[in-house]
Amino acid sequence: MSTVYPLIEHEYDVLVIGAGGSGLRAAVGLAEAGLKTACLTKVFPTRSHTVAAQGGISAALGNMGEDHWSWHMYDTIKGSDWLGDQDAIEFMCREAIPAVIELERYGLPFSRLENGKIYQRAFGGMTTDFGKGVAQRTCAAADRTGHAMLHTLYQQAIRHGVEFYIEYYAIDLIADTEGVLGAVAWDLSQGTLHQFRAQSTILATGGYGRTYFSCTSAHTCTGDGNGMVARAGYPLQDMEFVQFHPTGIYGAGCLITEGVRGEGGFLTNSTGEKFMERYAPHAKDLASRDVVSRAITIEIREGRGVGTHKDHVDLHLEHLDPKIIHERLPGITETARIFAGIDATREPIPVLPTVHYNMGGIPTNIHAEALTLGKDGKPVTISGLMAVGETACVSVHGANRLGSNSLLDLMVFGRAAALRCASTLEQGHRVRPVRRTMVEPIFERFDRLRHADGSSPTAMLRERMQKTMQSEASVFRTGETLEQAARELEAIWCACTDLKVHDRSLIWNSDLAETLEFENLLACAVTTVSSALMRQESRGGHAREDYPDRDDKKWLKHSLIWLDKKGQTRMDYRPVHLETLTPEVQSIPPKPRVY
Ligand code: FUM
Repeated sequence: MSTVYPLIEHEYDVLVIGAGGSGLRAAVGLAEAGLKTACLTKVFPTRSHTVAAQGGISAALGNMGEDHWSWHMYDTIKGSDWLGDQDAIEFMCREAIPAVIELERYGLPFSRLENGKIYQRAFGGMTTDFGKGVAQRTCAAADRTGHAMLHTLYQQAIRHGVEFYIEYYAIDLIADTEGVLGAVAWDLSQGTLHQFRAQSTILATGGYGRTYFSCTSAHTCTGDGNGMVARAGYPLQDMEFVQFHPTGIYGAGCLITEGVRGEGGFLTNSTGEKFMERYAPHAKDLASRDVVSRAITIEIREGRGVGTHKDHVDLHLEHLDPKIIHERLPGITETARIFAGIDATREPIPVLPTVHYNMGGIPTNIHAEALTLGKDGKPVTISGLMAVGETACVSVHGANRLGSNSLLDLMVFGRAAALRCASTLEQGHRVRPVRRTMVEPIFERFDRLRHADGSSPTAMLRERMQKTMQSEASVFRTGETLEQAARELEAIWCACTDLKVHDRSLIWNSDLAETLEFENLLACAVTTVSSALMRQESRGGHAREDYPDRDDKKWLKHSLIWLDKKGQTRMDYRPVHLETLTPEVQSIPPKPRVY
């Protein structure tokens, strides 16, 4: 087969797949440590989906009032609906402070206070003093924080000599029973196939929002890392937990940052009622996202939606000082004008809960090393494989992520991955050779899809999957809707034998690239629905109407799921880490300190 597809070979100390926030942060640290680092990305680095992050990055800097990382930790555990691993959460919230200072020193242009310190805004679920007050903890660069972050990190990566492979699509991991040796990738612009061998491969491929019809995610968020891991025979974790952001623009799905509510914006229904006061009397519009998304859905279901079809609600910021809007929310006013055709300084923005984030993904420890279960049922690391960012599940977000903890997760665990590699790998150490039998199945799959000549175009099957996920695995689910979704996904899986790819070329063949992406999306959809069907309780982003309560007795555990080649799944579980990293945290509350 390699005569049909000549392979161009590369060898690195570390291969990073993905150039969003976590991939770039890892790559910067790796190159800084002197490790020969390749960063492979299917889009230009500054076009990665992190660019769309608006509201900011959380850290208890205390620039706008007293704050402490242990308050941040408490909020994150509570926000996760107690499914988050508490050691990992402690690690992230402690590391948040140096991570943000480091970004500032890298040159990220944060918004500033009069005194020159970084500006911090309120965000959902972020409190002071263990839930007593509202914290201003989210460090922002206006409402374009992700954009500023990506540009800053890309410049640092160039400065440190990271070698980029831009517009390369990673097809599959090269793996055997001993672990992972790298990946095979397709150079989209030249049409060549490449074998990357590396001591460690770090997946930083982002989420899989595009399994749904309406999402805030870029079209590139196709769960590529998750798909590769599933095909390599490793598990995915907590896939049932999909976050809906309460304020996607009605119709278009584009994100309107939670920062709007952090700056004083609020939601109303058709009677003009600020309905969040009823659902969350204390936190109101700044309740966590699962709570606000469910409240909006109930308002609409009970006939209090706005518009001709009473199918959305209004988000108001027209009462805010135009100077604040201009300074702190310039991006969303533009987005509202383009995608909703409204002037947000004068009229409300029509919004609807929209898929935004995947809490589940590749299980890892706090060093970003990927995990599977050993023969004794205990987690063990997978040699040569790491994962960071939204594709990973470390798990700091548990069943529901707090807004602005995602950019933080990218920075903290991107850095942790680099540090782990620096302490465990040897510069220039030879990677064991790749046997032909390890890459042949990758070529076979690629070739089969390239020449697929059935009657079902990829776009048609993808839309069927997206509509199924949107209607049956939504903000609220039941056993019945999930079974319906499982049946439909099985039919779509079978229909893949009848796929039609029109373009046979190797250069800029978007039809083939989208087909490879679709297979990854389908793997994510199937594992999401199977895991959701099994979890008979409601927790965080997983709201089962037939099991409305959280059931800690049976379900305080992480789901692990394996997917076989026929689309069948197998599940197992592992305990939530309820122990913290350091004993001092057991005696919360410690004395708060102002940074
Ligand atoms: O609403 C937002 O700005 C989104 C932030 C996040 O998901 O962390």
